[in-house]
Amino acid sequence: MKGEVLLFISLLSLGSVIGQVSYTIPEEMAKGSLVGNIAQDLGLESKRLTSGKARIYTRDSDEYIELNRERGVLLVKQRIDREALCRQTTPCALHFQIILDNPMEFYSVTVQITDINDNTPTFEKSEKKFKISESAITGAKFVLERAVDLDVGLNDLQRYELKPTDHFALKIHNNADGNKNVEMVLQKPLDREKQEQISLVLTAVDGGDPQMSGTMLIVITVLDHNDNAPVFTQPTYKSAVTENSPKGTVVATVTASDADQGSNCKITYSITNTLDDVRKIFEVNEQNGEVLLIGNIDFEDSRNYQINLLASDEGGLTDSCKLFVDVQDMNDNEPEINIMSKSNVISEDAELNTVVTMINIEDMDSGENGNVKCLINENIPFALKKSTNNFHSLVTDSDLDRETASQYNITVTCSDEGVPSLSSSVTLTLQISDVNDNAPVFDSSSYEAYIVENNTPGLSIFTVRARDADWNQNARVSYILEDSSVNGVQVSSYVSVSADSGVIHAVRSFDYEQIKDFHFRVKAQDGGSPPLSSNVTVKILIQDQNDNPPQVLYPVQTGGSLVAEMVPRSADVGYLVTKVVAVDVDSGQNAWLSYKLQKATDRALFEVGLQNGEIRTIRQVTDKDAVKQRLTVIVEDNGQPSRSATVIVNVVVADSFPEVLSEFTDFTQDKEYNDNLTFYLVLALAVVSFLFITCLVVIISVKIYRWRQSRIMCHSNLPVIPYYPPRYSDTLGTGTLQHVYNYEVCRTTDSRKSDCKFGRAGSQNVLIMDPSSTGTMQRIQSEKSILDEPDSPLEVRCNLQSIYFLNIVSLDK
Ligand SMILES: *[C@@H]1O[C@H](CO)[C@@H](O)[C@H](O)[C@H]1NC(C)=O
Ligand SMILES: *[C@@H]1O[C@H](CO)[C@@H](O)[C@H](O)[C@H]1NC(C)=O
Repeated sequence: MKGEVLLFISLLSLGSVIGQVSYTIPEEMAKGSLVGNIAQDLGLESKRLTSGKARIYTRDSDEYIELNRERGVLLVKQRIDREALCRQTTPCALHFQIILDNPMEFYSVTVQITDINDNTPTFEKSEKKFKISESAITGAKFVLERAVDLDVGLNDLQRYELKPTDHFALKIHNNADGNKNVEMVLQKPLDREKQEQISLVLTAVDGGDPQMSGTMLIVITVLDHNDNAPVFTQPTYKSAVTENSPKGTVVATVTASDADQGSNCKITYSITNTLDDVRKIFEVNEQNGEVLLIGNIDFEDSRNYQINLLASDEGGLTDSCKLFVDVQDMNDNEPEINIMSKSNVISEDAELNTVVTMINIEDMDSGENGNVKCLINENIPFALKKSTNNFHSLVTDSDLDRETASQYNITVTCSDEGVPSLSSSVTLTLQISDVNDNAPVFDSSSYEAYIVENNTPGLSIFTVRARDADWNQNARVSYILEDSSVNGVQVSSYVSVSADSGVIHAVRSFDYEQIKDFHFRVKAQDGGSPPLSSNVTVKILIQDQNDNPPQVLYPVQTGGSLVAEMVPRSADVGYLVTKVVAVDVDSGQNAWLSYKLQKATDRALFEVGLQNGEIRTIRQVTDKDAVKQRLTVIVEDNGQPSRSATVIVNVVVADSFPEVLSEFTDFTQDKEYNDNLTFYLVLALAVVSFLFITCLVVIISVKIYRWRQSRIMCHSNLPVIPYYPPRYSDTLGTGTLQHVYNYEVCRTTDSRKSDCKFGRAGSQNVLIMDPSSTGTMQRIQSEKSILDEPDSPLEVRCNLQSIYFLNIVSLDK
């Protein structure tokens, strides 16, 4: 319809134009669509078209229009695309001729193609990518692609739209050539950290009806800019670590984050402490922020650390934080014992609570680990006292005695309360110094010592010993002989005591027959100040030596003695002829006398009593027996070696005195005695003389002996080993022999009754030194037993001036 209208208009306008027809059709009509009734419009018969072989002539290669000769119409031969045909040119028309033969005629036909909105605005690419730094400033322009719409006129591209419009605005820039530049302008700063990617849609819209549009996706990647500093997750961190933790222990981990990207968020950690030695102890892992221990951590050095940490990204932005590390105590320090002052020596008389040592105790640990308790070993007289905290004093808490313990090893042990507990100890050696608190003590409460008479002067008799429990000078004992007298003589003239050794020496030679024992006191004194002393009694017992031979008292031996015993021929067997009486001034065995017949005229007639010296007949006297019988009797003591004396006993075997006299001349060849009286007188005189001489000899011998002894004493420096008789030890009344027998004094009241009495035990038979005498006087007394008897027949007294020999025998006729 519309085509027809157009045709009509053109016919009207081209009425004068011969053979020219114009049509207007829209593009994109379907094939076979009617373009125009050409026959009618040209006023030609349809036959003419057929006959004239009407055909279209065109220079174009493609034929869009075809002629239907039968119907006389022009039809669309193929799709007509205005945009393909004319592009942007307007108006767009197809020009061709219709040629007729018979006759040949031609007509020009113009078919104008009108545009329809059949093309959408299109972008060359559906997506456009941008990378824009977040640091891009506002106003920055980004050129966008234009869209193309093949349509023309109103159907062409009319405008662009960009959405969303948060950051960017669209700016259309009209170029001089009529083209439009489409730009995107940054209106608001970008922030990668908020939005890393922005998608925009650019829409191009044409003006056709219906409107058509094309879109393009704009993808903007916001590039990072280092606009964010690292940030620690906490401004301060806290951590604790036990001391002595091994190296490499992770103390804490700090973390910082950076909102930036890539290298801008690559954080490195570091420690920034400079003044302290934190960096020698701690290290931070640059990459992961682990704080490690690289040094020794000691609670006692530092109880906490403040570590300044820095996090920095590669762009140089930083953040800092602090890490507080508390060091936790471990019981790693043993108590330390310091001796502040001490005395190595303390006197044994120190008072209680005397301070010996001051001790200071330290434990570097804290809390329980630093609580220290101290002990000392037990059973010692010391105590440990705590004064103020950490100070202790070691004091004495009971009496000291050097003599029991002269040294103490005091071990002070201190331990803390940690788990496990640590302890340490120190040993003090304390010497106890001596005080003179012990007197010397003798080994025995009293001493008895023996010395054999006739000793060498200077002979050591015995040693006393006293011990002193003290020490050194206080224990140095000296021995002192205490003054006393023995028989009125200073004891020092008898014995001396060696001050150092306590050896008791005899000063003189002792004579048992003069003194049998004596005692004195020895004092032992130590060297302390003041000195202490004690004393002991020493009794010296003098032992007898067999130094005196037996002395025959009867029969008296005189040079020309005529004494004879008479035996009647009628005498029975066992008749007591006489009795040999002898004494020995020695004692004991040494005075134990035995009598033996040594020689005899007729051994078969007499015997001698071994013990008592009695001479008896052992057979009947016969007439054949000689009148004169001579017997030699030996008297021996029992000493070692024994001493002896011999005595000759004349026996006359006769019944009457004249017979005796007649025979007696044979005894003494020199003289004859006719008178009994004369005989007795001579006999008495002879006996007296003999005794006198004997006494004189004894006195002189004693004098000489003493004189020699004193000389020996002066000259002899050699030690003298005393001789003790092996078999005899006189134990003063406890032995078998008693001293009462030391002196045998025999009296014979009647020899025929064989009556010989010995002094009884208990009688005081003494040999005494008589100081009143001008010389040495030996006196033998038998006081009680003999003298007390009224008819005491026998007393022997020997004196320098006078010698009495009284009534030695009463011969029984
Ligand atoms: C003390 O110790 C010393 C040396 O260790 C030792 O010789 C001494 O016998 C000890 N004394 C005591 C009383 O234990
Ligand atoms: C000897 O010792 C005793 C105690 O044993 C004492 O009584 C006496 O006084 C002492 N004698 C002297 C002379 O010291």
